[in-house]
Amino acid sequence: MTEVPPTVPGLPMTRGRCPFDPDPELGALRADHPVTRMEFPDGHVGWLVTGYPQVRGLLADPRMSSRGEALRSPIALPMAADRTEPAPGMFTAMDPPEHTRYRRAVAAWFSARRTRTLEPRLTELAGCHLDAMAEGRGDGPVDLVARFAEPMAASVICELLGVPLSERPAFDRAVKTLFTVHSSAEDAVAGWHALVGLLRALVEEKRAEPADDLLATLVTEGRLTDEELVTVGSVLLAAGYDTSANMIALGTFALLEHPEQFAALAADTSLAERAVEELLRYLTVVHAGGIRAVGEDLEFEGHRMAAGDAVSLSFAAANRDPALCARPDTLDVTREPVPHLAFGHGVHQCVGQQLARLELRIAFEALLGRFPGLRLAVPAAEVRTRADAIIYGVQELPVTW
Ligand code: HEM
Repeated sequence: MTEVPPTVPGLPMTRGRCPFDPDPELGALRADHPVTRMEFPDGHVGWLVTGYPQVRGLLADPRMSSRGEALRSPIALPMAADRTEPAPGMFTAMDPPEHTRYRRAVAAWFSARRTRTLEPRLTELAGCHLDAMAEGRGDGPVDLVARFAEPMAASVICELLGVPLSERPAFDRAVKTLFTVHSSAEDAVAGWHALVGLLRALVEEKRAEPADDLLATLVTEGRLTDEELVTVGSVLLAAGYDTSANMIALGTFALLEHPEQFAALAADTSLAERAVEELLRYLTVVHAGGIRAVGEDLEFEGHRMAAGDAVSLSFAAANRDPALCARPDTLDVTREPVPHLAFGHGVHQCVGQQLARLELRIAFEALLGRFPGLRLAVPAAEVRTRADAIIYGVQELPVTW
């Protein structure tokens, strides 16, 4: 048994001198105590894991659980999603074999082969949103979040699921309310109900009028009940929107703040796939994840973990571990891709990762191709970040060209 590690008073989330680097305390912990104790917002003392091999190892360990009733969020979220039994279809909060049934129902839609067929349409969408961004410039700067990152991410996930774009403002509001600590509990509950209400109406529509989108296909296949369909649809919308939108905006900010990387990518678009992998690793927008609980008493690297202990697995710290790659704190778009954890690992690894990769590549290629002179319209220090949201990013990104 190793010596008892220190207990940290919460998940370190403060950004230091650089908005792209995780809290410096995570790096210090990773070096000295890659597995340590942490106090969760409800006072429970669980674990914080920051080392790459340790995070990866526990994500693949079947003794770790994602069961909703065992989970505790490492940040105080407005809607106490903690420790509640998962609703039918809430597969993110289930373990195999229950999880496997839902995962299989949607996985075929996100295969690499099927995703490739979406390239022409995604390219067209990026072009349209950039046209609108150019038109909206007028004399002043443009907010890239509102004008490009969010509309792009929303239109991709809406088209895939078959959500009419007219519903976008409603789900945009709902997702934002759910994922920030600044919402009141009432607003967060209302946000979730709005999302579920939207999906319920859509499922009814698809039943009346079959189509070839994901939701309509799931309805026709008949493997899931309406209640399950509504939840699966809400999970996909929520999981695929905020993540991609924040990666597009924060990725652009990172490229603008590393002009030599911006120039390298603009000069050689064959680097785009590598650049996307590197930005995913370097930025790790799912910075408060992953969240697990110990499913049975176990020993891990000399630590005794008890069934029911909450575990915070820091993807952000793991992706900056020198055990993963050389110069982990350097953004290098020419880097040979490394097996980062920005999409997680194991059975809950991101089901939409191929779509996200394609969407990001097309977004960055289109943006840099169209506006090679893109630049920040305000000093970088004035760009407001989302340090305390469950998905990291920027609130606005004023740009000009
Ligand atoms: C850049 C964009 C994205 C990032 C960084 C990202 C990241 C992640 C991560 C880290 C996980 C694992 C969470 C865990 O193990 O606790 C995850 C799971 C998931 N992601 Fe993504 N994601 C992105 C885009 C998408 C898209 C476009 C979709 C499409 C709908 C999607 C759907 C999901 C779903 C459904 C899960 C849960 C899978 C399961 O529990 O089996 N994600 N994502």
